[in-house]
Amino acid sequence: MSPAVETTAIFKDNIFAGKILLCSGGGSGICRNMTEAMVRHGAKAVIFSRSKDKLEKAAKEMSIKTGGEVFAVAGDVRNPVDVENAVKITVEKYGRLDFLINGAAGNFLSSFGNLSYNAFKTVIEIDLLGTFNFTKAAVEHLKASKGAVINVTATLHYTGTPFQQHAGAAKAAIDALTKHWAVELGPHGVRVNAIAPGPIASTVGMEKLGPAFETNSVPLQRMGEVQDIAQSTVFLFSEGASYITGIVLVVDGGAWMNPSFPHYPEIVLTPPDFKL
Ligand code: NAP
Ligand code: COA
Repeated sequence: MSPAVETTAIFKDNIFAGKILLCSGGGSGICRNMTEAMVRHGAKAVIFSRSKDKLEKAAKEMSIKTGGEVFAVAGDVRNPVDVENAVKITVEKYGRLDFLINGAAGNFLSSFGNLSYNAFKTVIEIDLLGTFNFTKAAVEHLKASKGAVINVTATLHYTGTPFQQHAGAAKAAIDALTKHWAVELGPHGVRVNAIAPGPIASTVGMEKLGPAFETNSVPLQRMGEVQDIAQSTVFLFSEGASYITGIVLVVDGGAWMNPSFPHYPEIVLTPPDFKL
């Protein structure tokens, strides 16, 4: 099976020249690479998450690597004041907002028994409320630019993945928002889609959930790479997807459809009493 390739190998340069992207979670992992691909294709980007130092370092590295412009704004997606501030800074600095990626998320493996009230609430607040907050703060600017949104979801809830009810419930609700917003914002020229990654190598998500995933249970026989998600991002934001809204694009090598994936046999039989 051939590996993922660079987005530049597939899409024309500068297709997003003059466009502005705001990305939550853009300082690391999958969303950092989504951002980098957009910048490599001409967009300017603002990345947002809690850790100011991490963000500023990532913004600097991405700018140098791409020759483009990436700016960092720190804040918490759970706080409407912070997300309003990020949108305000973006629009003051660049005059517009075309694309929004809702990628900030928190996750860990936890059995129902170990999942506290606050643990469930925390993940729902970061993933689901964070996605709502950011889109709410950005929506009028997206209408003005006839822009587009990508929500980063997952496939956990397709099969009731064990020890993932908190993330699965949040991502299921984000899939629902994707459809609600696609219908309500479509007449304003705003497209809203989601990308559901499978297991993506060398990410925090994989580190936390990793032991459950085996390459040979993925039909395409390899782990996903950040480039796989970046390519889908560039496509969904491009004119090539101008008639696509309200979809969840699953980018997982077919993984979720294999009943032996993810692989938790001993854990399912004997629910663990552990915290990762
Ligand atoms: P990651 O690098 O940990 O990305 C998550 C980002 O969210 C971090 O940059 C983090 O930055 C930010 N964040 C967390 N809580 C936040 C908050 N309250 N406010 C603002 N920012 C916050 O993990 P990843 O594995 O690349 O995951 C990226 C996305 O892909 C997530 O939506 C995840 O659910 C999804 N996904 C990943 C996989 C996978 O295999 N990795 C599979 C399916 C779906 P700070 O710590 O600086 O806040
Ligand atoms: N298992 C069970 N419960 C856990 C847990 C684990 N591994 N990690 C945290 N929790 C619980 C905490 O115990 C706490 O509940 P309590 O008050 O009842 O004790 C609750 O979750 C909130 O934890 P806290 O550390 O205060 O939350 P936070 O907002 O600082 O951090 C997390 C959020 C826990 C999601 C943290 O892992 C994080 O910031 N993650 C971002 C990166 C990430 O997860 N990336 C992967 C994306 S797929």
